[in-house]
Amino acid sequence: MSDKATLIYEGRTIELPVVRGTEGNPAIDISRLRAKTGLITYDPSLANTGLCRSEITFVDGEEGILRYRGIPIEQFTKRPDFVEVIWLLIFGHLPNKEELAEFSTLLTENELLHEGLRHQFQYIPVDAPPMAILSAALTSLAFFHQEFLAVEDIESVIQAAARLISKVRTIAAFACRRSLGLPFMFPDPKFRYCANLLHMMFSIPYKQYVVTPEIEDAINLLFILHADHEQNCSTSTVRTVGSAQANLFASCAAGVCALWGPLHGGANVEVIEMLNRIQAGGISPEQCIRDAKNKDKPFRLYGFGHRVYRHYDPRAKILKDACDRVFAQLHRKDPLLDIARKLEELALTDPYFIERKLFPNVDFYSGILLRAIGIPTNMFTVCFAIGRLPGWIAQWKEQHADPTAKILRPRQVYTGPAKVDYVPMSERA
Ligand code: ACO
Repeated sequence: MSDKATLIYEGRTIELPVVRGTEGNPAIDISRLRAKTGLITYDPSLANTGLCRSEITFVDGEEGILRYRGIPIEQFTKRPDFVEVIWLLIFGHLPNKEELAEFSTLLTENELLHEGLRHQFQYIPVDAPPMAILSAALTSLAFFHQEFLAVEDIESVIQAAARLISKVRTIAAFACRRSLGLPFMFPDPKFRYCANLLHMMFSIPYKQYVVTPEIEDAINLLFILHADHEQNCSTSTVRTVGSAQANLFASCAAGVCALWGPLHGGANVEVIEMLNRIQAGGISPEQCIRDAKNKDKPFRLYGFGHRVYRHYDPRAKILKDACDRVFAQLHRKDPLLDIARKLEELALTDPYFIERKLFPNVDFYSGILLRAIGIPTNMFTVCFAIGRLPGWIAQWKEQHADPTAKILRPRQVYTGPAKVDYVPMSERA
């Protein structure tokens, strides 16, 4: 295995170092390329660019492998505990009993919102998109918790992280209640992390929502499956913003904005809307597949395809099994699950999808599970964000611990006009 790659350009031979991680593709280190040759590299969607070195998450898209800190994702599914995974991602190892208890207490202590932030909700239109509320509220944490903005102080970072992870539930639940015109329910310290979110979303002042173990496990599992996915669009956004030494609140709020897009986390809403259209008879599954293949139509089969996976997304497989299990446990049926299965069957036997290696991704079955829990569709991407938050924080923390990290500042291939002179208004045609 060579530790150098050779580039021949205009008669010159240039040697470039090859960087190897523990697993995955080796990378040609081009950081000195421009200085040595005047060349830059062109990779517009960064599909072939390693943004950083990272020890957090490993994805092998060809084999359908996902591991957090080395642990295969499948091993978190038996007794899913999201808080344990949050700790693992941020601090790098599984917590012992004391660490987990201490961290859980820190989350409980920080679950309330500052009254100033709570009052802001009354000025938000009832039909405001919850992702807009979430990103605005996460940014607002920076003005209510200014004592934790110092990016170089690890204790401040941990305190900011705990506030984000704890309060994101309260913000999400308040956003949901606002859109439903229901009174806010305060967090209750007797509940565990996920049960508390469900309590704030579904209890009413005179009736406590009962969190069943099946539902609590399902939401823990959902969050764990979304917790990190190396350098995806929202995570690289968090790193980009963080590279300018922006604080953790602002960086994570930027991650929410990136996640909102329908090609990323917003796809879980698009999937359900697509399944609803099929159920309502507006379109058949076969027509849906035809439309997805038709290049003259902007439509895509949402919940299918992935930049990295050329194999079944392991998260989608776990979610598909979880849907079967949870529906059986709850003695329920959802016609959308049957339609999703039919679409998957059609796509996986269709040459268009086979040739392009398009498989279900995490968003294909997540909405069906969220529906079973009773979460409204407009909250699906918010739930994705709650799950992804520890990943963003872990990646941001890792970036700031790297003494070689610099501000992210890509270059471009300029294609505009060459130098032209300014024409005064009186001389313009
Ligand atoms: N339906 C139909 N065709 C698709 C789909 C799809 N869902 N996904 C990709 N393709 C086609 C493209 O049209 C393209 O075809 P072509 O080669 O004939 O031009 C080919 O497959 C390659 O697709 P790209 O768009 O180049 O793949 P890219 O890696 O850029 O995009 C993405 C990945 C954005 C996820 C894409 O597959 C997609 O739009 N999927 C639907 C949206 C979705 O589910 N997003 C969630 C992704 S998971 C996540 O973010 C958490």
